[in-house]
Formats: sequence, C-alpha cells, structure tokens
Amino acid sequence: MYRARTSYLDPADVAHYERNRFSGPLGAYKLRREHAAVGAALAALPRNLVVLDCPTGIGRWRGTLADRGHRVVGVDISPAMLAEARTHAGGVPNVCGEAENLPFRDGGVDLVFSFALVKHLPRSVRYGVLDEFARVARIGVVCTVNISPPLLWSWAMKRAPRHRAVDRAALLDWAQSRGMAMLDFGRCHTPIGMERCLLFRRTG
Ligand SMILES: C[S@@+](CC[C@H](N)C(=O)[O-])C[C@H]1O[C@@H](n2cnc3c(N)ncnc32)[C@H](O)[C@@H]1O
Repeated sequence: MYRARTSYLDPADVAHYERNRFSGPLGAYKLRREHAAVGAALAALPRNLVVLDCPTGIGRWRGTLADRGHRVVGVDISPAMLAEARTHAGGVPNVCGEAENLPFRDGGVDLVFSFALVKHLPRSVRYGVLDEFARVARIGVVCTVNISPPLLWSWAMKRAPRHRAVDRAALLDWAQSRGMAMLDFGRCHTPIGMERCLLFRRTG
C-alpha cells in the first residue's frame, strides 16, 4: 500500500480538513477556481456516466458530478473520510480501497475523477496510480496533477526529492502510450500555481 502523505485516517484530521481548507476569502477564491477548471473538464464529456470518484474524501465533488447526471461511486483509503462522506451524500456507494489497486474490472467505469491525490503520492508510484485509473476507465480520466514549469523541472528533480510535480512532457508521453489525448483545463487554485485539471481521454 502506498498511502499518500495526506491520508486522513484520524477523525480529528477530517474535522481539520473540513474547517480549514476553504475558509476565508482566499479559500473562497480557491474554491471558485477549482470549480471553474473542473466544470470545464466535465463539460467536455458526455452526461450520465458512471464515475469513480477517487479519492472521494468527504464527498465534496459528488454534487458537481451528480449535476451532470453522473452516477458516482466513491473510493478512499480513509474510513474516517468515508464516514464523513456518508453524512454529506448519503446514498452514494462508497468503497474503502486504494487508488493503486482499485476493486474494479478493466473498463468497469466510464470515467475516473481524481481531485488532489497525485500530488500527495510518492514520486515512485504516481504513474502506477495513473495506470490504474486508465485501466478501469472506459472513456477517460479527469485528474488534477501538479505540473512543473519546464525551467524548474531539472532543478526540482535534483533539489527537492519530495517535489510534488511531474514533468508535462513525460505526462504527455504517458497519455499517448496509453492511447489517450491530454487536455489541460487550467490551474486549480491560484493564477501561478502548479496544480492543473487535466482530462485524459481515449482516442480510439
Ligand atoms: C486532499 S484529499 C482530496 C479528497 C477529495 N478528492 C477532495 O477534493 O476533497 C486526499 C484524499 O486522498 C485519500 N487517499 C490518500 N492516499 C490514498 C490512496 N492511496 N488511495 C485512495 N485514497 C487515498 C485521503 O484519505 C484523502 O481523503
């Protein structure tokens, strides 16, 4: 199991997550930006899909997904987060499981939706998790990923072993080798931040 550093196994962490992540004017701004990017990515896809929301966390994207007619299944490694998700969005099925070993068959869902996981994963497993998303997704994957500006990439690789970002060219190669196009719907939180909302969509 390659648990992300942010794995929220303790109910106290879940309360903290709820309270602090989007509080105040800056929080509201970040929330607006991430909804704009995610909304644009989802608008590029058909409605009424079966969507795997992984990691679902406290289930905060379920309303956005349901608004497009999608049927959602949530997966998260943290029982505490899933308990909170049940209180927010009762009736949505949840599975306690790991992104790197999803309990779904190949092409078992239409779309994987993954907000704010990849950046928390150790560098060595990021592409393994993306492979797992690609395995279970029939149409594509909407995923947020931190992408380094090219000029910073070699610096980051040498100086910051826990650097959260991936290289755009490598990500594009990965997508193409899996028969997917990569579409970029922009930055999620700040005008200069690295976390971007991407859609990997099957081309065949
Ligand atoms: C920053 S939160 C994002 C949750 C949700 N997508 C959101 O935007 O609110 C990260 C979540 O990843 C979950 N997580 C961490 N490692 C995981 C793994 N290996 N497999 C599945 N979930 C994981 C944590 O429990 C936590 O709920």
